[in-house]
Amino acid sequence: MTPGRNALFIPGPTNLPDALRRAMDIALEDQRAPDFPAFTLGLFRDLKKVFKTETGQIFLFPGSGTGGWEAAITNSLSPGDKVLASVFGQFSHLWVDLCQRHGLKVEALEVDWGEGVPVDRYAALLEADKAHEIKAVLVCHNETATGVTSDVAAVRKVLNHLKHPALLMVDGVSSIASIDFRMDEWGVDLAVSGSQKGFMLPTGLSIVGASQKALEAYKTAGCPRCFFDFGDMMKTNKDGFFPYTPATTLLRGLRASVDMLLAEGLDSVFARHHRLAEGVRKAVDAWGLRLCAAEPKWYSDTVSAICVPDGFNGNDVAKLAYLRYNLSLGLGLSKVAGRVFRIGHLGSLNDLMLLQALAGAEMAMRDLGIDVAAGSGVAAAQEYYRKTAKPVDLGNAVAAAI
Ligand SMILES: Cc1ncc(COP(=O)(O)O)c(C=O)c1O
Repeated sequence: MTPGRNALFIPGPTNLPDALRRAMDIALEDQRAPDFPAFTLGLFRDLKKVFKTETGQIFLFPGSGTGGWEAAITNSLSPGDKVLASVFGQFSHLWVDLCQRHGLKVEALEVDWGEGVPVDRYAALLEADKAHEIKAVLVCHNETATGVTSDVAAVRKVLNHLKHPALLMVDGVSSIASIDFRMDEWGVDLAVSGSQKGFMLPTGLSIVGASQKALEAYKTAGCPRCFFDFGDMMKTNKDGFFPYTPATTLLRGLRASVDMLLAEGLDSVFARHHRLAEGVRKAVDAWGLRLCAAEPKWYSDTVSAICVPDGFNGNDVAKLAYLRYNLSLGLGLSKVAGRVFRIGHLGSLNDLMLLQALAGAEMAMRDLGIDVAAGSGVAAAQEYYRKTAKPVDLGNAVAAAI
């Protein structure tokens, strides 16, 4: 047993806030009780606020982000349908793989890892698709493997400009509830998330938003499905129930999570993530290192993938940080394995928690012989956090604290 807590800085699962832990520390309950709908209907209603949709519908499946992908695909498409996607990291790659395994024809554009969705290339292909054979366009909003955020609104603009009817599907697993996401405004037809990132919960829920257009597509979608069927869900969800045993404990946690997000205010949540991420980026600069994200427009506010110098292995940094300092950092995955380590900065976090991760990463890098000056990253982040901290009125400390 290592004393103290593991410092969890992988990009999901994230920290479980005590309030959410308590919300789930309950007796198991009757999912067919007459008062259960009073709870679930309110939860569906408030989740729509997090997804920023008034006209869409939220589905909650026992599952993870991968299950959410599967639900989105199988409920709206048929085998042989063409979809347009791009691959620039392990998660955008896995989504394409999932589509292919469901018999979809995927036009998967290869993009340098470190960049995001190639909007111009999407535009050219969509413009050429006069017969509207492309039935869905996939956008991995935040590629967690490389720390890259893509411009969903720009893809919607292209679709609208071309009057192309393809469904817009967005992987929001590491963006929704952490960075700006607007389902209705961006015309997102299927939005996929999971419980273990911005929602700060254990893994176990696929959270999917579907537009009215997606629900229309459901009526003719021929992909086989059962567990993830929207129709079965809709029949029972309308009365506040589920077609099979729901993960009631996680749903209670989700209620507390949504309450916490809405109480902080989504804009404040996004601003907090941005500020924390900026501090990490200041540290990376001070270390003389660079991010995997190729340009500032791609920088992710939920995860930073940090390139290690040639001759070093990013996975050694993560391994040593874990074994020596009880700090969990994200590994480099697939194509960038060894080239990067990742700091997840999403969920229930504050300045000093981030400084802990930066200190541990710095120590592990120095232990491995990477030439970063002792304290340099921590100092840069400290100064940034100090300068951007909310002013405190010491004369009125009691009022400020409540
Ligand atoms: C962007 C993104 N999409 C999808 C997934 C897959 O989600 P899960 O591991 O919950 O199945 C992940 C997981 O980290 C992810 O980061």
